[in-house]
Amino acid sequence: MTSEIVHVPSKWRAKHPHGAHLNGFLEYRTLYEESIRSPDTFWAKQARELLSFTQDFHTTRIGSFQNGDNAWFLGGQLNASFCCVDRHAIQDPDRVAIIYEPDDPQDGSQSITYAELLRHVSRLAGCLRARGVRKGDIVTIYMPMIPEAVFALLACARIGAVHSVVFAGFSAGALQDRIVDAKSKVVITTDEGRRGGKVIHTKSVVDDAVKDCSCVSTILTFRQTGGDVPWTVGRDLWWDEEVKKYPAYISPEPMQSEDPLFLLYTSGSTGKPKGVLHSTAGYLLGAAVTGKYVFDIHQKDRFFCSGDIGWITGHTYTVYAPLVLGCTTIIFEGTPAYPSFKRYWEVVAKCAATHFYTAPTALRLLKSKIKKEEIECFDMRQLRILGSVGEPIAPEIWKWFHNFFGSNQTTLTDTYWQTETGSHVVASLAGVTPMKPGCASLPCLGIDLAIIDPVSGEELTGNLVVGVLAIKQPWPSMARTIKDNHDRYMDTYFNIYKGYYFTGDGAYRDHDGYVWIRGRVDDVINVSGHRISTSEIESALLEHPAVAETAIIGVPDNLTGEAINAVVSLKERENPIDIKDELILHIRRTIAPFAAPKAVFIVTDLPKTRSGKIVRRILRKALIGEREFGDISTVRELSIYWDFFRILTSI
Ligand code: WT7
Repeated sequence: MTSEIVHVPSKWRAKHPHGAHLNGFLEYRTLYEESIRSPDTFWAKQARELLSFTQDFHTTRIGSFQNGDNAWFLGGQLNASFCCVDRHAIQDPDRVAIIYEPDDPQDGSQSITYAELLRHVSRLAGCLRARGVRKGDIVTIYMPMIPEAVFALLACARIGAVHSVVFAGFSAGALQDRIVDAKSKVVITTDEGRRGGKVIHTKSVVDDAVKDCSCVSTILTFRQTGGDVPWTVGRDLWWDEEVKKYPAYISPEPMQSEDPLFLLYTSGSTGKPKGVLHSTAGYLLGAAVTGKYVFDIHQKDRFFCSGDIGWITGHTYTVYAPLVLGCTTIIFEGTPAYPSFKRYWEVVAKCAATHFYTAPTALRLLKSKIKKEEIECFDMRQLRILGSVGEPIAPEIWKWFHNFFGSNQTTLTDTYWQTETGSHVVASLAGVTPMKPGCASLPCLGIDLAIIDPVSGEELTGNLVVGVLAIKQPWPSMARTIKDNHDRYMDTYFNIYKGYYFTGDGAYRDHDGYVWIRGRVDDVINVSGHRISTSEIESALLEHPAVAETAIIGVPDNLTGEAINAVVSLKERENPIDIKDELILHIRRTIAPFAAPKAVFIVTDLPKTRSGKIVRRILRKALIGEREFGDISTVRELSIYWDFFRILTSI
């Protein structure tokens, strides 16, 4: 691993004459140590500074990892939409809250001020209330990346409803599971969406999804394209006809700090996706503190996070962090490849973005398509801070990103975190921490990291250690539970290493104490920064009538980081060519296109132990072309493994 250090460029300081919120690396060290030594004092001070409580809290924190009952800022009352909208609208109504950059650049962008945002959010909140949504109810949102999706999140928060956003690339079946689990009365969607020049049929997917859901009484549809869509009178309402009936201001519902703000489904290593539940005050504080210190957000900034609102990155860094800190967030509807591979540069230059936060998978694609001369015409001088998220960023991609977007004059922060952590947990602080290309760097303020030896379960102290990554002390934005399954929450995160939160990732601490993330140690695959469990795809494949047994394996991939490979044995002999395509289509339809296997291998049987457990280790090694299989003495029949190996090498 390279130890090369990139210091904050001197030109960065010229771009940012008032300097970062922290005055240098030593100040981070001091504040970090204080935050670990006296976490309650640190977090209480941050909460009072960055959030607006309408009633102050009396107790900073209670609970423990062992009991899984952590709670923060007790006695406090606040409202997330007030913190993200009203207080800025009062102070500076004409400040731009959202810049919308549509899929097709010909359509022209749109700006929404904080005063306008307050009106949009209030009207929609009034409409939701009129449709029977009450405090604590869960509203499902299935929308493309448009400002109305932001209004929807904040309108839920305003009346104390819990939002559950489902990524608009999920299939009707996956959406149905989530609507039913949440028992949503109201689903918010659009007639259609646009992405990369293609139409996405959001309303018809919602219609398919709710066919058997008796709980849904309202589908509120924003008219985005004007396309023809299926309609059920009584249940379906047009946003433009309804929302205008409600007042331009309704007062925000006072919420307890621990009241849930949202639910977001994510894949675990086993079973169905889990509904991760986040609290109001703790979550919002995590967004605010990391937005302020990791990304050095100031109110004049224009923050461009390309993360879709359907994932946690979109929640925390497209919506909550920029708005809670009162800057401008850029909502980009499109993709990096449409109408050309120059699109991200166009958006950054046109919106004069100060920040650009994206995923290595997009960068790998762009690196293979773009030559420096093609992008030299873009004025990127406003850009100060780059960020990467979702998977490890290889040093050469880091350097390319720094050069091609930042002309080596910006900072670049690799941010490690998870749906469950709510906000960054390992990241360099922009303008403060010396950077190492490819390295997530150092723990964020208030995050007490540990590297654990997976064999002994003991914490490995000091530098030059490798093990699994854990967190030792509670932090405010940690998920509070998995909906309807607190046991699963305890078993996944807290019962593996007692007294620690277990991340599921491997990590290495180098000689400077910098942390390098090495990827998942469980059965979770990371494809283009999307997290998907092997067992979820396996269960879906087993539902196909032709499939007898299957194992899903993640293999390294140059473009997507990891790629999904399916090894399948069939019940009867079918034409393996036809069946491969059919199985891929089956996953696209039942889960989502991003979960579809890149390759399917048909075998007569899968290698198993004598007790019948599939030996994935052998499959993985065979798929990546390794000839050394290690100890295979427990594998039932070696002949099966040879059969498998022969098939693979012949493909
Ligand atoms: C998993 C969490 C949190 C934002 C997007 C994904 C991987 C995330 C990094 C990074 C190496 C990373 C981990 C983690 N991951 N960021 N900077 N370096 N790995 O959220 O879907 O909850 O996935 O993504 O494996 O556990 P998520």
